[in-house]
Amino acid sequence: MIEKTIRDILDEKGSTVFTIDADSKVFAALGELEGKNIGALLVMDEQKIAGMFTERDYARKVVLKGLSPHETVVREVMTSLVNTTTLHETVEEAMAVMTDKRCRHLPVFDNNQLVGMVSIGDLVKAALDEKKFIINQLENYIKNG
Ligand SMILES: NC(=O)c1ccc[n+]([C@@H]2O[C@H](COP(=O)([O-])OP(=O)(O)OC[C@H]3O[C@@H](n4cnc5c(N)ncnc54)[C@H](O)[C@@H]3O)[C@@H](O)[C@H]2O)c1
Repeated sequence: MIEKTIRDILDEKGSTVFTIDADSKVFAALGELEGKNIGALLVMDEQKIAGMFTERDYARKVVLKGLSPHETVVREVMTSLVNTTTLHETVEEAMAVMTDKRCRHLPVFDNNQLVGMVSIGDLVKAALDEKKFIINQLENYIKNG
């Protein structure tokens, strides 16, 4: 049984990464989150990754602090330290990173190139699919000998 990797997830979901410019207003970022039906955006400054902007950043750093999403720019409230994963990492390893670093999204890199994004939901789904597959095999083995 070969363990599922991040590559397997991206083979299914594709390599698109939704981003926002660091100087965009938070309100524009919220519009992107709603429009794309996602919980996080990779923040770009020129061509470089500057951070991640998540629903959690909005709740804690904008709403709770009484800031206006129309005046605040993403750069001011994003999470600067971005945890990442690679195509070769297993689903279990990436889950451990999310648990350890308390994050829910990981940009995926291959040879220093950004090649996708995975979320906690992607990892949970992949882990469940893997478990279902094993259970099916065991059931067949028990039935058919
Ligand atoms: N059925 C599925 O395949 C599936 C996959 C992921 C999540 N979900 C469900 O969606 C809900 C929310 O999911 P979540 O908490 O994982 O986070 P989320 O809403 O941010 O992610 C939803 C999907 O969008 C993708 N995504 C998020 N931000 C992205 C970005 N910036 N660029 C490219 N892709 C991006 C994720 O990889 C994931 O596939 C949960 O209820 C979860 O169970 C379902």
